[in-house]
Amino acid sequence: MPGQGSPPGGPGPDGAAVDPVAERFHFLVNAPALFNAVVTALEWDVFGHLSAHPGASFEELHAAVGVPAHSLRVLLHAVCTTGLLERGPDGGYRNAPAAAELLAPDGPDSWRHILTGWREIYYPAFSRMSEALAAGTNLALDAHPGDEPTLYRRLAHDPEREAVFHRSMSAFTLKSLDALVETGEFATVRHLLDIGGGDGTTSARLLARHPGMRSTVFDIPSVAQLAADAKAEARDRIRLHPGDLFADPFPPGADAVLFSHVLEIFSAGQITELLAKAHAVLPSGGRVFVYGYNASDDETRGWYSARLSLYLNVLASGQGMAYPARDYEEWMRRAGFDAVRTRTGYPYEHGLTIGTKP
Ligand SMILES: C[S@@+](CC[C@H](N)C(=O)[O-])C[C@H]1O[C@@H](n2cnc3c(N)ncnc32)[C@H](O)[C@@H]1O
Repeated sequence: MPGQGSPPGGPGPDGAAVDPVAERFHFLVNAPALFNAVVTALEWDVFGHLSAHPGASFEELHAAVGVPAHSLRVLLHAVCTTGLLERGPDGGYRNAPAAAELLAPDGPDSWRHILTGWREIYYPAFSRMSEALAAGTNLALDAHPGDEPTLYRRLAHDPEREAVFHRSMSAFTLKSLDALVETGEFATVRHLLDIGGGDGTTSARLLARHPGMRSTVFDIPSVAQLAADAKAEARDRIRLHPGDLFADPFPPGADAVLFSHVLEIFSAGQITELLAKAHAVLPSGGRVFVYGYNASDDETRGWYSARLSLYLNVLASGQGMAYPARDYEEWMRRAGFDAVRTRTGYPYEHGLTIGTKP
């Protein structure tokens, strides 16, 4: 049995090769429980403690974590089965290299923030998946107060949860942001209009990289306020423009429009509308950038893209998906952009599709 001693992809107990898909299946069906165990270990700072004290004994960990010994035993066993924690011959615990790299650090891009958001906001909604997909609406939204049609707008009623959500989103954005910032595509941008710019994380990083650039971050009012709070260091070059993407006009004056993790929230018709609005405010030669998750062109690959698409349809907006890049290219051409192309190979299944206004 996988998880009972067979190495991944190695021979089973009878010497027969283990089918990797079957092995993945066995991991997958246990993953919801194991996911929660990993988040609990993060909350209890098990990975951080083992980073400072590799090889710590159970007793040392127990003293550091301060929960009932039996609870810790159960949790450590669960996390060890994932391979993220290892035990030495003396029974001491240490982080596996992947845990040391991914789970021990505690900065603004920490997986702790990302997974806390997934556990508190995303994953509870997935128990409603059959119902929501069959109905074709994001009916899991009824767990959030308000009557607005998207999660983004409803979170304004719950500032604490909204902060968890944006901390999680901005931490995950940071994971793929360096690659975007370093593309060189933004080197000649003078004034960026960052549509759905969230708490300003992306704009702040782009401005830090390009001292001659300024940015207007357009987002709903409660989120624009988060950006005002969070981005003091770039405040002189970031302007916040609270508003609604559909109801309000895009502010003029930018020579580039960025949609980072935004268009995937919406339907094809709405995306066409937003790209047309971008086209209308840009000067000739102005560029539009669409950055985010892309499903593979044949729509068979991309775990992160698949998770995002399900989350959007069950909870966030009731539509949209991590569209393959060719869809964005087609919509850009339809909106009147030229020289449309996609740069691929960014982390976490990301792509950057670029178009120029003739
Ligand atoms: C997935 S987040 C992306 C944030 C940021 N661009 C990034 O890459 O991390 C989507 C953003 O779109 C904003 N948004 C969604 N619907 C909106 C609307 N109707 N008007 C303005 N902003 C909206 C949300 O508030 C949220 O900040």
